[in-house]
Amino acid sequence: MSQQRPPIGVIGTGYVGLVTAAGFAELGSDVVCVDIDADKIERLRRGEIPIYEPGLEELVARNRERLTFTTRLEDALERARLLFVAVGTPPTYSGDADLSAVHQVVAAMPPSDRHALVMKSTVPVGTGASIKRIFAEQGKDGFSYVSCPEFLKEGSAVKDFLHPDRVVVGDDGDWAGDAVVELYAPLDAPLVRTDISSAEMVKLASNAFLATKISFINEIANVCEETGADVMEVARGMGLDDRIGPKFLQAGIGFGGSCFPKDVSALKQLAGNSGYHFQLLNAVIEVNELQKRRVVAKLQKHLGSLVGKRIALLGLAFKPETDDMREASSLVLSARLQADGAHVVAYDPIAEEQARRLLPGVELAPGALDAVQDADAVVLVTEWQEFKELDWREVASAMRGTLVIDGRNALDAHAILAAGLSYEGVGRGTVASLATP
Ligand SMILES: NC(=O)c1ccc[n+]([C@@H]2O[C@H](COP(=O)([O-])OP(=O)(O)OC[C@H]3O[C@@H](n4cnc5c(N)ncnc54)[C@H](O)[C@@H]3O)[C@@H](O)[C@H]2O)c1
Repeated sequence: MSQQRPPIGVIGTGYVGLVTAAGFAELGSDVVCVDIDADKIERLRRGEIPIYEPGLEELVARNRERLTFTTRLEDALERARLLFVAVGTPPTYSGDADLSAVHQVVAAMPPSDRHALVMKSTVPVGTGASIKRIFAEQGKDGFSYVSCPEFLKEGSAVKDFLHPDRVVVGDDGDWAGDAVVELYAPLDAPLVRTDISSAEMVKLASNAFLATKISFINEIANVCEETGADVMEVARGMGLDDRIGPKFLQAGIGFGGSCFPKDVSALKQLAGNSGYHFQLLNAVIEVNELQKRRVVAKLQKHLGSLVGKRIALLGLAFKPETDDMREASSLVLSARLQADGAHVVAYDPIAEEQARRLLPGVELAPGALDAVQDADAVVLVTEWQEFKELDWREVASAMRGTLVIDGRNALDAHAILAAGLSYEGVGRGTVASLATP
């Protein structure tokens, strides 16, 4: 453990809050973690980690003495000046961000001239200004406010916290902004110190850009399917260009998760509410929705009617190394398949508990080979490592049919073909061209 640093409070102990809390504890701060979910706080006190995030359990355990878990906001207010807010901001029906949890936190703050709210939750541009206005109306103008958006990725969140690409701090130039910069100083990351609105926009624009890159390569993949090119080769050729880069150029069955879909939609709505029609983001969203459904058409092309067909889904989480199923492609896909009369059987190494709640009617198998037993077709939905290492001969002898759809272009097409199965990826041209390595 490192030297003692200023204590902080973290409000909301989900994916962002818990990682932030454990990360700052690792850097030397005592951290008071507050959540309204009493059950979650109880579990955390017992040393249980309610989410799956590689390395988090060890990080929390190593810093256990510096972490306090409580449902009482007063405990954080008493012990810390900086209160990081990491509550959820899910989408509303209109596509705007639901800020009710954020406003609950704001309303619970007492008048104070020694505290600051540090916003980690992703919020629309203008939220900081409106919170400052609310503070002023309620006679709490002494309360400082800092925007400090979070860029961690589920699955590598601990590493991302400790080695961020950048730290963005948006503030009014008072003590609180300096204190946040100081807190992050040991990480030695490039700092973007700016105004509150620009900091809020950095987060939304970054996620919207990454989502755009994914939808772009997915459209290229769809054109590849029509023209016989292989999107994997195309992406390799594009990605070697410094100006483009190889990341987020993996074609597949669409992006999901708790951030991209909601942040893209929130930015689109924010633009619309401000009188600007953000055309590009409309297309990004639409392409992503269609991409999830294209798998169904591929299954129908090979199998005909899906009524009574047994379809095995490998992976359910929105990406590997997480149990998060928010907006996962598996949700749309399994619902569409069931609506078409298919029997869906699925396996995910980690997300089973979430799946049981979110996927009624889907049979959950205890392992990959159990899932593919008697299947007419197998669809790779989430590219967990264990699926890349499957013995395709074993899969072939367990299946009733022969079709493997690689929804993430992550499988070894040659091994699948060599096992006597047929292979179809996303934007990978003809099966015949893949047959010759
Ligand atoms: N998950 C990610 O990868 C990620 C990455 C960057 C930014 N973000 C943003 O961070 C924010 C949090 O996301 P998350 O995935 O950690 O959410 P989450 O749903 O996992 O956690 C939110 C937590 O806040 C708690 N909470 C709700 N209202 C509360 C209140 N009034 N007081 C105290 N606790 C309260 C909930 O009980 C829950 O434990 C969101 O705005 C999200 O967009 C998320």
